[in-house]
Amino acid sequence: MNLFLETQVFLCEFLWLWLVAIYKAVMPANLLPHKDIEGWTVLVTGSGSGIGRLIALRFSGLGCRLVLWDIDQAGNEKTAELIREAKPGAHAWTYTVDLSRRDQVYEAAKQTVRSFLPVMVQKNRGHVVTVASSAGMFGTAGMVDYCSSKFTVFGERSYVATDSGDGRLLF
Ligand SMILES: NC(=O)c1ccc[n+]([C@@H]2O[C@H](COP(=O)([O-])OP(=O)(O)OC[C@H]3O[C@@H](n4cnc5c(N)ncnc54)[C@H](O)[C@@H]3O)[C@@H](O)[C@H]2O)c1
Repeated sequence: MNLFLETQVFLCEFLWLWLVAIYKAVMPANLLPHKDIEGWTVLVTGSGSGIGRLIALRFSGLGCRLVLWDIDQAGNEKTAELIREAKPGAHAWTYTVDLSRRDQVYEAAKQTVRSFLPVMVQKNRGHVVTVASSAGMFGTAGMVDYCSSKFTVFGERSYVATDSGDGRLLF
């Protein structure tokens, strides 16, 4: 695709996502379609701070049981504490995991959910939500490493979205 066309596609996608976000922000929550996820187990990575912490709190508010993975043990414990404060009796399990270490990820996965995608595909249930950044869609000066890592996230997401792990296409 040439640069002009790519830019047009990007701008259209960007605009569309903004419109959807604005629609969701102004519409009363009960008028929006939503799924009942009460009782589901949600694994949040990077839950010790920022967006991960807010996501964990939000899911807990929706009645989910939280599995919290972060390299920062103190931050992660704080998130669990905030969850229990906001909702007494809420389930939140913390694991200190360095996500850049495959061995640690597999070890933590064994203790929580044995594996993710194959089981989700088998049960035809579950979601994988990835936080990337618009920096993964276009380059920004001085942010080569950040843009590259976010671009990778988009690539990985398209892979996961199309590959069931056993050769079947998910859609
Ligand atoms: N904050 C923004 O405006 C923004 C915008 C676009 C995208 N993002 C992306 O969203 C994600 C979260 O951003 P944030 O602002 O909440 O960041 P943050 O720094 O507040 O939180 C990141 C969390 O990840 C944990 N972490 C870092 N390396 C880890 C590792 N190797 N293993 C396990 N945990 C690790 C940290 O301890 C921290 O708790 C990032 O990927 C960021 O690039 C953020």
